[in-house]
Amino acid sequence: MSSASAPGKIILFGEHAVVYGRPALAIPVTQVGVTVAIQITSTNNEIPDIPSQSNQDWKERISIFAPAIHRSGVLASYDSSRKADPIGMVIENVVKELEINSPPSLHIDISSSIPVSSGFGSGAAVSVALVRALAATFGRTIPDEKVSQIAFEAEKLHHGTPSGIDNTVVTYARPVYFIKDKPIQTFAVGAPFTLVIADSGIRAATRESVGDVRRLWLANPQRFEDIFTEIAAIVETARRAIQQGDEEELGELMNQNHRFLQELTVSSPLLDHLKQAALNAGASGAKLSGGGRGGNLIALVSSETIDCVATALGRAGARQIIITTVI
Ligand code: PMV
Repeated sequence: MSSASAPGKIILFGEHAVVYGRPALAIPVTQVGVTVAIQITSTNNEIPDIPSQSNQDWKERISIFAPAIHRSGVLASYDSSRKADPIGMVIENVVKELEINSPPSLHIDISSSIPVSSGFGSGAAVSVALVRALAATFGRTIPDEKVSQIAFEAEKLHHGTPSGIDNTVVTYARPVYFIKDKPIQTFAVGAPFTLVIADSGIRAATRESVGDVRRLWLANPQRFEDIFTEIAAIVETARRAIQQGDEEELGELMNQNHRFLQELTVSSPLLDHLKQAALNAGASGAKLSGGGRGGNLIALVSSETIDCVATALGRAGARQIIITTVI
């Protein structure tokens, strides 16, 4: 049995604008994650009709058990019943990358504590853990850059036009200052800060919010380019505030970023309500995180306000609260 795990993630600043070449900040969230365990159930020698390299019969021999993400069954049947299959694509790309001509029979068990379609990077975490578990099964390793690239290809099936931030932060599992198509950078944290992450419980497809923002941008490019540039300035200032440990400024920047996300139409009444509840309870700042419309709200708290904010967010309708400290 071989296994690998990957964490969840949240975006601190810059979502949506990052799709248009602006920077964003994201961190791994290790309180949630995906584990993929793979067992070889028979070797090729035991299989009488070893397929030729050209056909796809090997997919009949891959069984997947992934109730947490509502995916279970034989790989071949996914392929024929679905147009876009990120899991199938990941497996196929790993098999190609490692030049495995005829994979053995595999049982792939995917377990996850990451809520899906919630801004926690569930899709990217499944892909990254799956790539590494498959490589381990074949006694190989795949470099991080390639892991991230394979996960990015699957993200395109999930999201349409992803920036690549999810697969990057999940692959490298460290704080990331990210610009599309640029080498990954991390950012310094001058003083640890704590976030309360409130899952709104509303599942919202990032593909849709990203698509809606694209339509708005196409209809009025100047206005939306200006908003993306304002968000980029917030990201740069936030990076410095994090470096300097300036919590007050960081909170204010979160509020500003949220206002621009409202202008992009990706907030929702519940997210706005959660934000107000967090601020009323003493949070230094709060914003939605990720694709929006549902998913997460993140609130910046101190040791004095943490309990009050977490309680207020629960009362205001959050389905799950996760507390994470960035160090
Ligand atoms: O996967 P989510 O919902 O955390 O959102 C991804 C962030 C976006 O900027 C909205 C899209 C992207 O690909 O960067």
